[in-house]
Amino acid sequence: MEDKIKKAADLLLKSRFTTAFTGAGISVESGIPPFRGNDGLWSKYDPRSLEISWFMQHPQEAWTIIKEIFYDFFEEAKPNKAHLVLAEMEQRALLGRIITQNIDNLHQEAGSKEVYEFHGNSKRIICLGCHRVYPAKDISLAHLPPTCRECGGLLKPDFVFFGESIPQTALGASYEAASLSDVLIIIGTTGEVMPANQIPFMAKSAGSKIIEINTEQSNYTGSIADIFIQGKAGGIMEKLAIELFTTSLDNDQDGINQDLEIHGQ
Ligand code: APR
Repeated sequence: MEDKIKKAADLLLKSRFTTAFTGAGISVESGIPPFRGNDGLWSKYDPRSLEISWFMQHPQEAWTIIKEIFYDFFEEAKPNKAHLVLAEMEQRALLGRIITQNIDNLHQEAGSKEVYEFHGNSKRIICLGCHRVYPAKDISLAHLPPTCRECGGLLKPDFVFFGESIPQTALGASYEAASLSDVLIIIGTTGEVMPANQIPFMAKSAGSKIIEINTEQSNYTGSIADIFIQGKAGGIMEKLAIELFTTSLDNDQDGINQDLEIHGQ
């Protein structure tokens, strides 16, 4: 694995524009289960509760499940090392954008600034009547379904339900980032869900090198991944950080030394 991490670090250090594409797997070590796989959420809950047509017909039942999964359960989740390393990479100009399928807000809470929320964000709740946007923490879920205090309209989490379209801004910005990337680092996604799962293929066809981090193989592993590092995101990203930040510091130091020589100091 060390050799692959070194190769990945070399690619990332040489890259002019790097994008991260993340899925539920990056948040598993924060205590949020993935959707698919043996103990995935879809093995415990019916994904129908996140279908927009079913939500509109059965708002109370849908909200009961949504509250349990995304508000009672996720509420305490904190960013893990993988989120923190991506934020540090952005700080050091080693990462340009994050395109996330996740709605848990953990990239932002880790300090990442350029985050495209392809499936929205559970920390915002919107009114389907007057379109007001509320912070989820300001909305009581004691009585379901919650309604808008301004117009009485039905409230809905501001994330994309099955059957809803992807927010236009996130869609356009994500496709642009994919087409501009020298390197795309994919972390923790099966690549099962359209249209998000097309992003890595778009990046590849635009000439991007693909690094994939996952505990299992995915739709990308045997097809477009140039480097596949198998394992948990937290530990791998920590090792990658050591390679990246030590090397980039050396490079910085080399750069400083060269400057000093040139200017004869
Ligand atoms: N580190 C890295 N990868 C992990 C870890 C971990 N600790 N734990 C699990 N994984 C991997 C799994 O092997 C799997 O490939 O994370 C992936 C999780 O897959 P999914 O649960 O399908 O999540 P994701 O790919 O993000 O789903 C996409 O589906 O239900 C919709 O809208 C939902 O955004 C979600 C979309």
